[in-house]
Amino acid sequence: MKICFATNNKKKIEEVKAALGDSFIIVSLEEIGCHEELPETGDTLDHNAFQKARYVKDNYGVDCFADDTGLEVDALNGAPGVYSGRYAGEPRSDERNIDLLLKNLNGVSVRSAKFKTVIALLLNDEEHSFEGIAKGEILKEKTGTGGFGYDPVFKPEGFDKTFAELSMEEKNEISHRGKAVKSLVQFLK
Ligand code: IMP
Repeated sequence: MKICFATNNKKKIEEVKAALGDSFIIVSLEEIGCHEELPETGDTLDHNAFQKARYVKDNYGVDCFADDTGLEVDALNGAPGVYSGRYAGEPRSDERNIDLLLKNLNGVSVRSAKFKTVIALLLNDEEHSFEGIAKGEILKEKTGTGGFGYDPVFKPEGFDKTFAELSMEEKNEISHRGKAVKSLVQFLK
């Protein structure tokens, strides 16, 4: 079964392919000839995920799913949340986002946070959504070189390593997106 994952983030595609196994052929936006930036103008993860999936389905006529993820930091009242990707403004930069996050948490001792992913699936004429949450805390400095985004400063609950120090398989097992993908896969199967 062929299905488009509405992203061009190679790391995400890799993560999802690893979680899905061989039962699905996952194609990226590039592979369906979609080179424009997808609209995501909402102020919730749910809104943005469906907006992206709907855009692909309407313009390219393929079944697809889209994800939207936010990092919610308790001491910052849930920020950066839905704005995680452009926390430090445009152009998007993981490094500047992390620097701003660490600056805003300077001197803060309660550093609990969670990643939340919503996956919106448009299959045939049906809409479905799946959610995954990973709880953890924001460290005071970057550790590790793997992953992407806020991974070097996010330490998942029950681990003494950051997401950036885990292998892709280890991260997939416990991550927000891994959990949301698991629900998606269970549904598709
Ligand atoms: P997106 O909605 O998946 O594009 O995620 C928005 C932003 O959240 C990204 O630009 C990253 O900064 C961050 N993010 C999403 N997923 C992850 C992850 O697995 N690890 C670290 N940061 C992430």
